[in-house]
Amino acid sequence: CGIVGYIGHRESYPILINGLHRLEYRGYDSAGVALIDSGSNLNIYKSKGKVNDLESVCSSRNISGSVGIAHTRWATHGEPNDINAHPHVGNASNIAMVHNGTIENYAVLKEFLINNGYTFQSETDTEVLVCLIEHIHTSNNCSLYEATRQALQRVVGAFAIAVIDRRNPDTVICARRSSPLAIGLGDDEFFMASDASPIIEYTNRIIYLDDDQIAIIRRGTAIEVFNLDNEAVSPSVQQIDLDIAQLEKGGYPHFMLKEIMEQPATIRDCIRGRIYDNGTKIFLNGVNHFKEKFLNVNRIVIVACGTSWHASLIGKRMFQELAHIPVTVEYASEFRYGTSLLTPNDIVIAVSQSGETADTLAAIKMAHESGAFVYGICNVIGSSISREADTGTYIHVGPEIGVASTKAFTGQVTVLAMLAVAVGNLRGTISDAEVSQIATAISNLPELIGKTLNLNEKIEDLSKIYTYVHNFLYLGRGYNYPTALEGALKLKEISYIHAEGYPAAEMKHGPIALIDEMMPTVVIAPQDDLHDKIISNIQQVKARGGKVIAVINENDREISQIADDILEIPSVPDCISPIISSIPLQLLAYHIAIRKGCNVDMPRNLAKSVTVE
Ligand code: G6P
Repeated sequence: CGIVGYIGHRESYPILINGLHRLEYRGYDSAGVALIDSGSNLNIYKSKGKVNDLESVCSSRNISGSVGIAHTRWATHGEPNDINAHPHVGNASNIAMVHNGTIENYAVLKEFLINNGYTFQSETDTEVLVCLIEHIHTSNNCSLYEATRQALQRVVGAFAIAVIDRRNPDTVICARRSSPLAIGLGDDEFFMASDASPIIEYTNRIIYLDDDQIAIIRRGTAIEVFNLDNEAVSPSVQQIDLDIAQLEKGGYPHFMLKEIMEQPATIRDCIRGRIYDNGTKIFLNGVNHFKEKFLNVNRIVIVACGTSWHASLIGKRMFQELAHIPVTVEYASEFRYGTSLLTPNDIVIAVSQSGETADTLAAIKMAHESGAFVYGICNVIGSSISREADTGTYIHVGPEIGVASTKAFTGQVTVLAMLAVAVGNLRGTISDAEVSQIATAISNLPELIGKTLNLNEKIEDLSKIYTYVHNFLYLGRGYNYPTALEGALKLKEISYIHAEGYPAAEMKHGPIALIDEMMPTVVIAPQDDLHDKIISNIQQVKARGGKVIAVINENDREISQIADDILEIPSVPDCISPIISSIPLQLLAYHIAIRKGCNVDMPRNLAKSVTVE
């Protein structure tokens, strides 16, 4: 979910709506806004669906007010409908609140409130929390700040909240635990949001609240921050550099297509300053400052979710091959509830585009408790994971808005490659000549990605044939086995076609039973060490009447002759091959989804950043 708030001298509604649009990547099941007008009336408007639907609800309503809070939701408790949408109010309809996170002990708190005469409109945990605040506020006759503080002390779970009271329109109370909250400092005005993107067009001076901090934001004066024990803390103000143009579509019909097409530039940004001496050396601050950690490392555990988990699987192969370090890759959600057996000599690498995924954040907190060293690979500057990690490397691909991750995936794989090479060089497991060979190949990636993107029209054509298929199989081997997983994920996320990714040789242990002329197979088959093997896998599909779309290197005559359709990509060293081979798969998923009339930027049920468990 995403939250936005404003208090100052302007009308808050346009700022809140604009902010919600920027945060729609965090969820778009329903949206709502609460405003206090000059007559101290609390006006709340909510709608199931996207922020545009909320705007229709608000047209011709009283949307005045220089203080307000707003929310775009990804449902956890209760189905997405108007009633469950935020903001929620207490029983007396004075206090309104928006919330991102999950209150785990909400059932106990709800029972306590019901016993105290409270009734509930919605099924949400949020309404329970706002009623608890109201209950403490009235029964203890204390300030809104004090009531919120005491209520939060009783909460188990994660929250970022903003609370207003119509009887005191000059104050907003904000707090966080686990879910992020940024406060922008303008001139006599304040902006609150789940991340900096709704704020930066007004101010680049931002405070990120830390866990268990609560802020009192008073109109026109400075903000005060406390911990939940009521001790004052002095927050640090950060200067954020984020270009507003990067958040716009730049002439493309969808963010996803823009983000696929801008990959030559994003990979250039990703490697800038990190590959030097004419592409012969690689320098990463995170490695340079912590050489001892990488020299003495026992094993690496990579934690991630979704697409970032696929990038991590490629990273595993790189670290084992280039730096001779044993690596395991874990789903963060599984790792956090398992027996980690981590030691202080282990390095945990957290890979996350948003830097906010709740499970990944929890996994690295657990890693820290075991004394392990944590290395973050994030995209969003200043995100929770980047701040929690001991060090790390930003992928620097710019804001990714399309829910299906594309440029972040190629950026993650590029950073993992640079990291594995830099660590391998430090440990003496690869020679300077090998470093230079891979570094040069990485430097050439922007140009080669540009060439690969020329496949766009061919893939658009090809998508016509495959739009009405119900199942797809994606196969790859070695470095491109995770590419197959990622290709399948892209297709199912945005086109709702069922797709499975498999290591090509495993196909004969199950998926081969599904193959017929109605189930196409996409095979990622560059000319690497396993080329001959994958040719036999293609033959096995063809022998059962399956159609094959093959992603191959230019001039691969052998596969061109047996595949039904071919997509030719330039040849690069094996370890970075997924950076090129994933691009036609991104385009294939995009064009098939567009032909099916799907909303590729905001596919149903998904959220870009999953900030709840
Ligand atoms: C969600 C997104 C995916 C993303 C995953 C992990 O499921 O829809 O695109 O890969 O979360 O997100 P992260 O920000 O941690 O990379």
